[in-house]
Amino acid sequence: MAILSAPLILEPSAERKTPSGQKVYLPLNQVIADNSITCIRELPDSSVHLILSDIPYGIGAEDWDVLHDNTNSAYLGSSPAQEKAGAVFKRRGKPINGWSQADREIPKQYYEWCSSWASEWFRVLKPGGTAFVFSGRRFAHRCICALEDAGFSFKDMLCWVRDHAPHRAQRLSIVFDRRGDVISSHEWQGWRVGNLRPSFEPILWFIKPYKIGTTIADNALSHGVGPFNEEAFLRYVKGADNIINCGFSQGEGGLHPTQKPVRLMQALIELTTRQGQIILDPFAGSGSSLVAAQNLKRNFIGYEMEQKYVDLCRSRLGASDLLPFMR
Ligand SMILES: C[S@@+](CC[C@H](N)C(=O)[O-])C[C@H]1O[C@@H](n2cnc3c(N)ncnc32)[C@H](O)[C@@H]1O
Repeated sequence: MAILSAPLILEPSAERKTPSGQKVYLPLNQVIADNSITCIRELPDSSVHLILSDIPYGIGAEDWDVLHDNTNSAYLGSSPAQEKAGAVFKRRGKPINGWSQADREIPKQYYEWCSSWASEWFRVLKPGGTAFVFSGRRFAHRCICALEDAGFSFKDMLCWVRDHAPHRAQRLSIVFDRRGDVISSHEWQGWRVGNLRPSFEPILWFIKPYKIGTTIADNALSHGVGPFNEEAFLRYVKGADNIINCGFSQGEGGLHPTQKPVRLMQALIELTTRQGQIILDPFAGSGSSLVAAQNLKRNFIGYEMEQKYVDLCRSRLGASDLLPFMR
């Protein structure tokens, strides 16, 4: 019978050596106020056990989510309709007068943005390790292709069921009413413009392929990752399904515009890692994944570009008095 070695508990900011003997710094249990796309280049190869990240979806929900250079005024949120619609649609990318060729470049530019970090994610993850990526429904396919092209294997698409998704599709009859077109308003009763209620978000499950000629069992012994812990996962959900119902605890929400529940993050962490392992979130936001890692005695490395969210992460982690990580 194989005996699993004791989990590795690392000290914060552990020093590691590369195969050539060069010392490298692993900023453990830190939230780094910087751009992850450049900073991750400083992490050693095959050093993290899990990448868990709710990445920008590229749908223009916030300024950091505009990942294209389209100058169509609708996309920049300054069309008269968007001005009138209020905060919700201020920055959202909705062409109002049909699709131009430039509008159709937006998904490709999202692919290019994902490609700008995917190879580095691949390099720092351990063989057999998981990358869970929260993605938007509209551009998930571009993210999948970017990560596949960087070397990842796309294992599955999980479906996170959102508790209270708002249904924002506009009634067409109201549009005609505003125009004073009573006949069309009557004819188009019951029709809407927009989407059905967005009741789920995809969580993309990638793995870094492990060594040819070995098995997941071998990989679990050599790198500590590869299989999944169904027993632990079932502490959070009713069944071992790829549709996940795991919502916010009371009073938890409202910290970040795209916040995710800590319980959901914990379920994904317990599914794929063991105590003492290292979890990386390059787009930490308010730090839900980092809090989940801390709760479960995993080490973490978080990056967040906006100082107000870095401060929020640090206070949620009970570490508001920590000095920022210094390079
Ligand atoms: C989708 S949100 C994450 C929300 C998080 N899941 C939570 O529960 O609060 C993505 C975050 O990534 C940050 N961000 C965007 N680009 C970044 C970059 N290049 N480096 C670091 N952070 C970035 C944004 O400021 C934003 O807070």
